[in-house]
Amino acid sequence: MKLVAIVGTNAAFSYNRILLHYMQQHFEKIAEIEVCEINELPPFCEDLPVKKESKIMELAYKITKADGVVFACPEYDHSIPAPLKSAIEWLSYEIDPLKQKPVLIVGASYGPQGSSRAQQHLRQILASPDANANVLPGNEFLLGNVAQVFDKEGQLGDQQAIKQLNSCFNEFLSYIRILQADAREDKSFNSVKNPFFSDATVQFPTGKLKLLEIQQLLSTLPFELDFIDADDEFAWFSDKAQREHVRSVDDLGEPVKDCHPPQAVPAVLKILSDFRSGAKDRVERCFIAQGHPIYTQYLAVRDSSNKYLGTLEITSNVEHLKNLLETGAFSSEAGSVKAASQSTKESKENEADAVTGASQHDGSWDDTSSSGSMHG
Ligand SMILES: Cc1cc2nc3c(=O)[nH]c(=O)nc-3n(C[C@H](O)[C@H](O)[C@H](O)COP(=O)(O)O)c2cc1C
Repeated sequence: MKLVAIVGTNAAFSYNRILLHYMQQHFEKIAEIEVCEINELPPFCEDLPVKKESKIMELAYKITKADGVVFACPEYDHSIPAPLKSAIEWLSYEIDPLKQKPVLIVGASYGPQGSSRAQQHLRQILASPDANANVLPGNEFLLGNVAQVFDKEGQLGDQQAIKQLNSCFNEFLSYIRILQADAREDKSFNSVKNPFFSDATVQFPTGKLKLLEIQQLLSTLPFELDFIDADDEFAWFSDKAQREHVRSVDDLGEPVKDCHPPQAVPAVLKILSDFRSGAKDRVERCFIAQGHPIYTQYLAVRDSSNKYLGTLEITSNVEHLKNLLETGAFSSEAGSVKAASQSTKESKENEADAVTGASQHDGSWDDTSSSGSMHG
């Protein structure tokens, strides 16, 4: 997580600056915080072209690239310091780097109030239509009596304050993740190429994979997958190039009966009902499409207590395998390969039985495994 932290004063010495440097070090394992200054920015003037003010554009660029912004705000005359107000005016006039940006406000003061009135004003300012930032609600970090709570090395000694800061900061990181997930959600419906949480990791009993790896792994499999959920709705398909069954994201969430050609619907519904009831676990179908031998398996997906979760459809063009079999790729004098060859012969015989009818290239439905497919 990359954050920009803005020191809300142009003074050479500032406890708010010390607070931000403390946060930079204290949270270094969970966030990369760049502390930025406003002391070199000119006072805001509507007549000056912002795009020629390189220091402002530099800060605006850093904000745009960051996942969020932290403002450390001193209190001057019950409000925010004028240089900070001026900086926000620059950042909200003709450019909009703060727009929808997650923001955390913190503040330190000599007195006990911890800049509370300035923080209220800063919230109002950042909510203005031109700034339009997303300030973390429900949390504020007010550090009073700063001259006592920081030591000479800039370390915070007040355990209660550290606890409060940790809590606010963790809330802020969660807030950023929620806003980022929200922003991605729209895109993910536009494109099946964007996993919803691209930086998530799933821990399986047999190892862990990043969500992006799962997505690409499923797209790399030499067969295509479709999943119909327990409510008989088309829930997901693998994003494989040149699919035999071309699917559209528009069909996601639709009842499965609306996603198949009318002549196939009764057979599909029968499979789903047999899977749901537990009568079957697997149905095979072989057919020729556009000159290719296509092998499709429907598999009931169940949880560890056998509750039906949905149906997985696996479709593959088996031309390559068929050619390998026909050209004797599995026959050899070598013992182990011979054994494999024998079992291939057996399975070939079984296959011949299994696909009778369906393999006559009429695309008809054949639940060839109905005899031995009970689960358990
Ligand atoms: C012009 C000016 C006005 C101030 N007004 C207030 C105020 O209204 N309330 C307050 O609590 N402190 C006020 N202070 C004190 C600041 O809160 C204090 O200097 C604080 O530490 C500023 O943070 P800094 O060390 O990061 O500059 C004021 C200080 C200055 C210089």
